[in-house]
Amino acid sequence: MLALTVDPLPPLAAFNVAGEVFVTSNICTHNIAMLTDGYFEGNIVECPMHGGCFNVKTGEATEFPCEEPLKTYPVAIDGEDVLVEIED
Ligand code: FES
Repeated sequence: MLALTVDPLPPLAAFNVAGEVFVTSNICTHNIAMLTDGYFEGNIVECPMHGGCFNVKTGEATEFPCEEPLKTYPVAIDGEDVLVEIED
């Protein structure tokens, strides 16, 4: 996993799931913690603060105390670049 900064968005995180890239908010929805400081396996990221988990493909909160989903962002690959789609 990799922390990303894409102006003007909040901190983002990119995850490689079996060769496919997914981008989500990097801020845990339970409190203030950077998910890229946590643990990532398969398609699940575990928050370093209280152990809540999210599915990085869908943003779904999968482990208490996280209940609110993560924001996810559509991505496209252009050569070696990962393009993040920003809503208007
Ligand atoms: S801040 Fe992430 S689980 Fe509490």
